[in-house]
Amino acid sequence: MTAHRELRGDVAVLVPAAGLGLRLGPGGPKALRLLGGEPLLVHAVRRLRAAPCVGCVVVAAPVDGVEGVQGLLAAYDVTVVAGGATRQASVAAALAVVPEGFEIVLVHDAARALASAELFERVAGAVRAGHSAVVPVLPVVDTIKQVDADGAVLGTVDRSVLRAVQTPQGFRRDVLEAAHATAVDEHTDDAGMAEKIGVRVYTVDGEEAALKITRPLDLAIAELLLNG
Ligand code: CTP
Ligand code: MG
Repeated sequence: MTAHRELRGDVAVLVPAAGLGLRLGPGGPKALRLLGGEPLLVHAVRRLRAAPCVGCVVVAAPVDGVEGVQGLLAAYDVTVVAGGATRQASVAAALAVVPEGFEIVLVHDAARALASAELFERVAGAVRAGHSAVVPVLPVVDTIKQVDADGAVLGTVDRSVLRAVQTPQGFRRDVLEAAHATAVDEHTDDAGMAEKIGVRVYTVDGEEAALKITRPLDLAIAELLLNG
């Protein structure tokens, strides 16, 4: 118990929230779209703020929305920076302002608005236990086929060795900084960048609530989850 208390608040969380939300359809930046009457970003920040390990939160907001997001999150002690043209650029902008002293950094998509505080604790705990990079994962439920350019099936992939990856993803700070400093091409997640520089990425159990809200159906599912 004492040890836990001493470690409280040593984790920084970066929240990329500057995307357009094109796949969700018309209605403005996704992070500001409403779920149960509240913006996705507010749901995400409230949940991660409830994790005892979290001591610093940096949100990458849409470029013209920095002040608005600051107002929206006034109750949660967050730093807001302008995001970039890509998710990767938004994460880099947020990483650049993390104060000294935070040696564990988690990256969490605002689009995974319902990820629980427990998931943040689990990922941060695995980094603290010695893993340089950690991703929450779920088993793949669909049968996956490899296809060629004409749509013909080349084969069936062995599903048992596949995992679907979520956020928050956790890193030793120096590892995340090195990954971002050396990245040349665009990556859809930060662990992929760490893999590129030879870092061994470890997995922990993800959760269904941490689904990424991408298309209208996802928003409807999140609405159901929210209402229990
Ligand atoms: N993101 C970001 N900066 C960008 C692009 C994306 O901070 N330039 C963030 C999004 O706000 C989201 C997360 O990265 O929280 C995951 O991206 P995605 O689900 O693709 O969201 P959008 O890019 O907003 O959606 P879409 O691709 O449908 O436009
Ligand atoms: Mg996107």
